[in-house]
Amino acid sequence: MEKKSKKTFYVTTPIYYVNDVPHIGHAYTTIIADTLARYHKMAGREVFFLTGTDEHGQKIEKAAAERGITPLALADAVVGRTRDLWKALNIEPDFFIRTTMAVHEKGVQKLFQALLEKGDIFKGEYKGWYCVSDENFLAEDVPIGTDGVKVCPDCGKKAVIVSEATYFFRLSAYQQQLLDHYASHPQFVRPPSRMNEVSSFVRSGLKDLSITRTTVQWGIPVPGDPAHTIYVWFDALHNYVTGIGYGENENQFKKFWPAQVHLIGKDILRFHAVFWPAFLMASGLPLPECVFGHGWWLKDEAKMSKSRGNVLDPYTIINAFGPDPLRYFLLREIPLGLDGNFSHEGFLHRVNSDLANDFGNLVHRTLTMVQQYFGGTLGEMEDEGADDRAIREMYEKVKASVRSHYESCALNKALEELWTFIGAANKYLADNAPWKLAKDPGRRGRLARVLWTGAAAIRGAGHLAAPVMPGSAVRIWDLVGESVSPQSVLFDDFRFDGLRPGREMKAPLPLFPRVDLKEFLGQEAKPAIPSGEDSAAVPQPNEAKMKTKETPMDIITFEEFKKLDLRVAQVIRAERVEGATKLLKLQINLGTEERQIVAGVAETYAPEDLVGKKITVVANLKPAVIRGVESQGMLLAGIKDGKAVIPFFEGDIPPGSKVQ
Ligand code: MSP
Repeated sequence: MEKKSKKTFYVTTPIYYVNDVPHIGHAYTTIIADTLARYHKMAGREVFFLTGTDEHGQKIEKAAAERGITPLALADAVVGRTRDLWKALNIEPDFFIRTTMAVHEKGVQKLFQALLEKGDIFKGEYKGWYCVSDENFLAEDVPIGTDGVKVCPDCGKKAVIVSEATYFFRLSAYQQQLLDHYASHPQFVRPPSRMNEVSSFVRSGLKDLSITRTTVQWGIPVPGDPAHTIYVWFDALHNYVTGIGYGENENQFKKFWPAQVHLIGKDILRFHAVFWPAFLMASGLPLPECVFGHGWWLKDEAKMSKSRGNVLDPYTIINAFGPDPLRYFLLREIPLGLDGNFSHEGFLHRVNSDLANDFGNLVHRTLTMVQQYFGGTLGEMEDEGADDRAIREMYEKVKASVRSHYESCALNKALEELWTFIGAANKYLADNAPWKLAKDPGRRGRLARVLWTGAAAIRGAGHLAAPVMPGSAVRIWDLVGESVSPQSVLFDDFRFDGLRPGREMKAPLPLFPRVDLKEFLGQEAKPAIPSGEDSAAVPQPNEAKMKTKETPMDIITFEEFKKLDLRVAQVIRAERVEGATKLLKLQINLGTEERQIVAGVAETYAPEDLVGKKITVVANLKPAVIRGVESQGMLLAGIKDGKAVIPFFEGDIPPGSKVQ
């Protein structure tokens, strides 16, 4: 995906089913795409960002029939929900494709026809279990239930048997070519765990794919055989080429194809990393550089989805905070690729601490003092001192590393890095205490220098944050007296020291107001856990058990116990998790590998108490992100008065030894 030398950047999201009300999960993918698009524009590339809606198929046909309207009328009526949400989130695609658009339908028919002529599409008969909700034939190894019916493993709904004449795509012919492509392009599927999943699926054997239906009317007709409509996934995947002009605007198509990154949720990996490249190979089109399968946002440990009824409405947050805090939270909280648990408590905690306390305060303090001590204008300043230089030099270093994280889609790391700079700038102000300098008329030049550095820092931080928080960045730049938007200045052209004495600055307005949890959630406010730690982000299985003392314990079998992989681990390094009073981040040696875990033990242990100690770790626990820090396992501890007491191993037991 790294494309420093190339001048164009093409990023896509999945196209969303038009009958679903878009929720935070859909917003996540689209915010990532918008952020990458904005970043690459600021890096000087010509960018195309495509999103849209998937409007054909049995689901829409059924929903429209239930309402007594045509599927197109239904799609027309509801597509606005998706567009409006993107607008409310400050998401600005270059094109919003609907699969009912003529340009798309014609393009799909053209591609279909060409494959038919080539023999990669041929006619036959298909019989199989079909999930109407997911528009997907179930794999043969999905077991038949006791009622004789297969249940869709993805959405849990009952499948139906479909038997029909169909056109097949010769997927089996592309097995080896796909495997060769994976081997020669290890970045084709990211993260690497998803690549393993995909290649082992392909290695296990590919069957030809039924790609038309006679039982579904609402779809693109097969050219020359209109009793058949084209399978919704064959139709939908081709939006990535028709959306940039395939068959219609060849110049634009040639300019942007192949895409640098298709962003998708991990649920639709096979479609994008197996079927889609095979379709492209058959059509003789180049393959995208990367398919990035990000993780899910969960609510109460289950994937947020309409069928589970656990979706969170993004407008609850947007109406109270505007779009940027939600954009920031979703990108900062988890690395792209892992799942995260969404809670309003976790959201508020981050917004109050990172945005209101850290960034908001830096802006507010600096601008208030420029008003108070210099009437709103940057004063004539004395020469740069060591402290001032350190901040300027740190900015350049941080900028380079933030940029490289944006380049590699490590958006949480980009933000983490930027916040180290914001922290340093806050410390610089505290150390230089301008409020003290202001009392000494002989130190006006020094005072002006310190406030200049503060102003340069907020302007520079605003520039780096612009892809993630475009609205706030514009406001910050307006406050420091810039007449242009931060996004119009390329990263290569931006100068930290671009401010001159005499520059007029505005009085600060609260950028990120602090919001109280109870006030925000109203009657539904759940009590925060005592330390003020984020209750949703911190897994607390032990606490949950303690609270249910009265209920009898579940008995587990020895077989179940054996599923736990308990190991001796030696702590190599330990440090506090910033902003969390209970948490330590530990690097541990597990014999064959090093890992990082996060443990709620900081109330009883200082980091140095643990270094070198041997502890027990659950090594096969699903990784989780706690307060933005990845935890790849869990240590075991006793709990006394709500605090952790860790049993340490004495004597000569090597790290990695089994505990049983
Ligand atoms: N229409 C198909 C995609 C066709 S692309 C050629 C589809 N649509 S969808 O609306 O059901 O979901 C689209 C995407 O939304 C998912 O793949 C994922 O990117 C995103 N998400 C939906 N729920 C999500 C979460 N709970 N968490 C994170 N992303 C999720 O599939």
